[in-house]
Amino acid sequence: MLKPRKLLNNNFLSSLDLSPSDVNYILNLATDFKSKNLEIQLKNKVLGLIFDKSSTRTRVSFQVAMSRLGGTTIDLNPNTSQIGRGEPIKDTARVLSKYCDVIAVRTFNQADLEEYAKWSSIPVINALTDLEHPCQALADYLTIKEEFIDLNNLILTFVGDGNNVANSLMICGALLGVEVRIACPKGYEPTPMVINKVKKLCKGKELIKIFNDPYDAIPGSNVLYTDVWSSMGEENKSEKKDKNFIGFTLDSNLVSKANDGAIILHCLPAYRGKEISNDVFEGNQSRIFEQAENRMHVQQALLYSLLS
Ligand code: CP
Ligand code: NVA
Repeated sequence: MLKPRKLLNNNFLSSLDLSPSDVNYILNLATDFKSKNLEIQLKNKVLGLIFDKSSTRTRVSFQVAMSRLGGTTIDLNPNTSQIGRGEPIKDTARVLSKYCDVIAVRTFNQADLEEYAKWSSIPVINALTDLEHPCQALADYLTIKEEFIDLNNLILTFVGDGNNVANSLMICGALLGVEVRIACPKGYEPTPMVINKVKKLCKGKELIKIFNDPYDAIPGSNVLYTDVWSSMGEENKSEKKDKNFIGFTLDSNLVSKANDGAIILHCLPAYRGKEISNDVFEGNQSRIFEQAENRMHVQQALLYSLLS
């Protein structure tokens, strides 16, 4: 069992909050948690969950991770707490800091998450914002590591919208030395703000490449990844996006252009027939449910690191 160590930052608001060695440490610790059924006693430690958007995996995997560490979780449903009635974040954050030991927040604006962190005296975790999904990226790279062991020289191609999941994959990929290619229709590239930050992290190595045709991006890839075309909060854009993303469905034809032994990932929930075909989703290259399981192991490692 790895000893607890202090991470670069007390909060996990972005994949940028981790150093390369922090990411490797969390992935190794997650592997230990997964394989060794370790007994850790974080008795009396309390995780507060604040979810302004729907969630199955993140909510449940955080709850189970905390319970496996011996702690407890409180789900602060914004609809039944004062959060939904507009109590300021700065007041909520200061109050919750008195009751909880860590909070995980799923919300729309990254700035709101940062406001929680500013006013909290306890660690704050990003459980998804419009900008990033850093817990997801940790689980994704754990799944990739389990498959390929050595992450060096791997190529991950994300086919779809340049969204929160793509952003965290690019940042975490740069920390781990994985080349991340984004294949998206014109106008749906990741925000330049994130691309520029990632380029700085890459220190001259060309680890980020943006394509507008998946057939150009996929050759040489070890991992193919996709996510919904319209994220939560974008329901009013979905009709237009469905049209603009024609040709970006991850189907067996696209998969056949990747390297032999390439694996398929999807953060879920998935819309079969839109961003992914049913045969690819259910096929033998898919590691989608291993990936979902790994959410729990990496979050257990993250909570242990932030609370120990
Ligand atoms: N992948 C993911 O974050 O799933 P949920 O929205 O169900 O939490
Ligand atoms: N990009 C998706 C991810 C869901 C887990 C969304 O934000 O809705």
